[in-house]
Amino acid sequence: MAKMEVKTSLLDNMIGVGDMVLLEPLNEDTFINNLKKRFDHNEIYTYIGSVVISVNPYRSLPIYSPEKVEDYRNRNFYELSPHIFALSDEAYRSLRDQDKDQCILITGESGAGKTEASKLVMSYVAAVCGKGAEVNQVKEQLLQSNPVLEAFGNAKTVRNDNSSRFGKYMDIEFDFKGDPLGGVISNYLLEKSRVVKQPRGERNFHVFYQLLSGASEELLNKLTLERDFSRYNYLSLDSAKVNGVDDAANFRTVRNAMQIVGFMDDEAESVLEVVAAVLKLGNIEFKPESRVNGLDESKIKDKNELKEICELTGIDQSVLERAFSFRTVEAKQEKVSTTLNVAQAYYARDALAKNLYSRLFSWLVNRINESIKAQTKVRKKVMGVLDIYGFEIFEDNSFEQFIINYCNEKLQQIFIELTLKEEQEEYIREGIEWTHIDYFNNAIICDLIENNTNGILAMLDEECLRPGTVTDETFLEKLNQVCATHQHFESRMSKSSRFLNDTSLPHSCFRIQHYAGKVLYQVEGFVDKNNDLLYRDLSQAMWKASHTLIKSLFPEGNPAKINLKRPPTAGSQFKASVATLMKNLQTKNPNYIRCIKPNDKKAAHIFSEALVCHQIRYLGLLENVRVRRAGYAFRQAYEPCLERYKMLCKQTWPHWKGPARAGVEVLFNELEIPVEEYSFGRSKIFIRNPRTLFKLEDLRKQRLEDLATLIQKIYRGWKCRTHFLLMRKSQIVIAAWYRRYAQQKRYQQIKSSALVIQSYIRGWKARKILRELKHQKRCEEAATTIAAYWHGTQVRREYRKFFRANAGKKIYEFTLQRIVQKYFLDMKNKMPSLSPIDMNWPSRPYLFLDSTHKELKRIFHLWRCKKYRDQFTDQQKLIYEEKLEASELFKDKKALYPSSVGQPFQGAYLEINKNPKYKKLKDAIEEKIIIAEVVNKINRANGKSTSRIFLLTNNNLLLADQKSGQIKSEVPLVDVTKVSMSSQNDGFFAVHLKEGSEAASKGDFLFSSDHLIEMATKLYRTTLSQTKQKLNIEISDEFLVQFRQDKVCVKFIQGNQKNGSVPTCKRKNNRLLEVAVP
Ligand SMILES: Nc1ncnc2c1ncn2[C@@H]1O[C@H](COP(=O)(O)OP(=O)(O)O)[C@@H](O)[C@H]1O
Ligand SMILES: [Mg+2]
Repeated sequence: MAKMEVKTSLLDNMIGVGDMVLLEPLNEDTFINNLKKRFDHNEIYTYIGSVVISVNPYRSLPIYSPEKVEDYRNRNFYELSPHIFALSDEAYRSLRDQDKDQCILITGESGAGKTEASKLVMSYVAAVCGKGAEVNQVKEQLLQSNPVLEAFGNAKTVRNDNSSRFGKYMDIEFDFKGDPLGGVISNYLLEKSRVVKQPRGERNFHVFYQLLSGASEELLNKLTLERDFSRYNYLSLDSAKVNGVDDAANFRTVRNAMQIVGFMDDEAESVLEVVAAVLKLGNIEFKPESRVNGLDESKIKDKNELKEICELTGIDQSVLERAFSFRTVEAKQEKVSTTLNVAQAYYARDALAKNLYSRLFSWLVNRINESIKAQTKVRKKVMGVLDIYGFEIFEDNSFEQFIINYCNEKLQQIFIELTLKEEQEEYIREGIEWTHIDYFNNAIICDLIENNTNGILAMLDEECLRPGTVTDETFLEKLNQVCATHQHFESRMSKSSRFLNDTSLPHSCFRIQHYAGKVLYQVEGFVDKNNDLLYRDLSQAMWKASHTLIKSLFPEGNPAKINLKRPPTAGSQFKASVATLMKNLQTKNPNYIRCIKPNDKKAAHIFSEALVCHQIRYLGLLENVRVRRAGYAFRQAYEPCLERYKMLCKQTWPHWKGPARAGVEVLFNELEIPVEEYSFGRSKIFIRNPRTLFKLEDLRKQRLEDLATLIQKIYRGWKCRTHFLLMRKSQIVIAAWYRRYAQQKRYQQIKSSALVIQSYIRGWKARKILRELKHQKRCEEAATTIAAYWHGTQVRREYRKFFRANAGKKIYEFTLQRIVQKYFLDMKNKMPSLSPIDMNWPSRPYLFLDSTHKELKRIFHLWRCKKYRDQFTDQQKLIYEEKLEASELFKDKKALYPSSVGQPFQGAYLEINKNPKYKKLKDAIEEKIIIAEVVNKINRANGKSTSRIFLLTNNNLLLADQKSGQIKSEVPLVDVTKVSMSSQNDGFFAVHLKEGSEAASKGDFLFSSDHLIEMATKLYRTTLSQTKQKLNIEISDEFLVQFRQDKVCVKFIQGNQKNGSVPTCKRKNNRLLEVAVP
């Protein structure tokens, strides 16, 4: 989530005042009190406008975390509470975005936290600038240059355990994007005297201790060193160990840093060799030796150390030894060699050590520069960080202090210049009238020191170069002459004698009234130090070293380049480098960090007012505030100003629609702030007095309280309301849920009841339907089953023939058929004749056809009989009817019958019609004649027979005489009652007549005829048809006949054959008539 932009201000939760400009009233006391107050609250940073005052907390504060970096990143300077990061950010952004080269000037006395501050600035810049492998390497190299330089240039002093003993100015170069490209380091005035001598409680440069503690045994051997500090004269013993500092570990850190910065291994080794050489130089001791001419001559006590040095550096021992004993002065082509006395020898030794070390240091700086220098030629933006000692005011101030204070004077000057310039520029920019600011310009002091003709440095140089006896006293005298009238120069000996009675001013001293206070300088050592003399013999000896690094450190030792001109003095060198620095700084936008040391004990939480007061004075901080406040104490862009105070006026609160400036105008009018108290710039409001600002702040605070109450009120109202609304809403929700729940439950109950009822009804209905459906289904199933069976049967029936199961039957049937067929066909061929009497019938071929065969035979017979019958005419039919009648009457009853079957019934045997004899007869008979035959009439009396014609008509039976044809008897058929005959083969028959009838008077007739059967049959038939009575025919071998009154028995007996076949009849008595039948 994007961090919420909270517009804050420096003025928020301020402890004391965050910006000294706002201090009211402004004086030393209030100033110190404000600092103290803030310091007590861990606010170690305070602004004076854009200057940061930093009070060394002597303990680590949690204000440099990456989070803090983020807090200050891209925020306006006055937005957050004062911090070194705010300044760093301002500088970096101004460099990156506005293309303005920056310099950060960090000043303060030793232990005030300058070096820490410079590191903080660098680390902040490193944190916020670009990232990437290359950039990171550059950053790392820049940062790692610090440990190296600190090892060689820092030492423990009474004021600071890690005091930088050189001034350092570092240009960090950036590309247009703000990514670091590299850097250039300049060093100023290494305190080289420390190499040979350290004040009580202080140490030599760290590197010596680090080397002895941290180097491996092997390395120590190589350097012919011993680990014991006490072995070395140059190392002060009383504070060889520093609390909380691990020299051995730091040594490793330094070596590592050297590697990162880009030192080759052999380079690093060479450096350590030089360090070792310096250390060993201190152990060279001299003893006096009287010479003949009475002059003292020094001699090296123990040459062993010298030998080792020479071995280490590759210098011819004799050369070095000579250099320690003689001094060659060349003047006007003349070489004069003088011996050195012990003191001179020691001086020479120390001078060599100091030079060797300080040149090594310069070489180191150059070497580092080589590594960290920007690789590209593109235009660079530069941020310079100056970590240089502030004013030094000690009890004994010497040449170094003088130089340092001069430097600070120059810095103050540039500060004033730049601040004023900036101030003025801002006024112009903002269109505010520039009012003259009364301030102390220290140009006059600078002039006192650096003036080329009568400046102190110039005079010192003059003294140093002057032939003749030159002492510090002569120098002071000269000063007294030249500067006596200078306002800022004080001396007891000055001609003006203004200070003749000033006992605080010793005779061998001069006092300069620096802008930061008066400083008393001991003149002793000025000349020497300015000369910074190294005997030529020594530099030449050094040049002769085979050790390349050492050789390169002493180029003036090269005899080929012999230069008779004196080397520039330390003073002039410094002046020149300060001038360069100033020039450099002037082209840049300055940012000031003023470091203040709160106590002398390096202890946290102690704020020594006297000490701070002193620093405030010489740093000229009050002056600083005054300059800053000269015109208008406070200025602020319109927008933040309006934003901050808009609640003070109804028109601007809560929102101002117009331009911010108009809003501020309205606001200020409304608040009735006196017009002279403020001025409207183009983009900023300028407030003359901090009072006004504080009034505004007070009003704001009050108003804020009111607003807070209002907000509280509204908030509480809102909270209660929302709470109530929430409760109500919740209540509604709960109620709704409960109702819903209750209804749901009720509904569920109803629903379940309904469901039960429904289910019963449905069940009932369903069962009903099910029953019906089941029934229906069963019907359907039954129908289907029946149909299926039916269809099955049908189909089976239809297809049975196709089934194998039926084949047997089929074959059987077929075979049977064939047999039957054959049988019939055979039968056809074997058919017997159509004669009904033919009894032939083919034999039966198969047993099983037995009944058929018989039936067939029967049918066939019936059929042929019918056929036969069908041929008959009606007459024939009649005949056969008669024959049939005869058969019925006589068959098997009368033995004669079979013989009659073959005789056709002719009836009219006698053709009466044709025979004229019977004409009469014929005429007598009117009726149709059925029989006309001749029969034998048996005489009833004797049995004799007479022929008679027998005539039968429809109604009558007539007997006529054969010969005459006379009718003898006529009997109506009605009177015929019976016909009797025997069962034998005879032709006898009796015709019985009705008793009492007319014809019966003679009795019954007895006849014999050949056609008995025919006659009897016809008689029977005619009688039946005429009288509808069946004529009784008696067949018996004994029967009675009526003869007149007598009943005669006719008896048939077996006769003999003598008469042939004609039966004979004999009357045996009245009662018997025997008929013999053959
Ligand atoms: N901002 C700071 N926070 C914590 N300790 C600090 C701070 N500044 C300085 N110190 C402490 O003070 C000591 C001296 O600071 P240093 O920067 O070396 O002083 P100078 O360079 O001014 O002589 C440091 O070693 C450190 O212990
Ligand atoms: Mg320092």
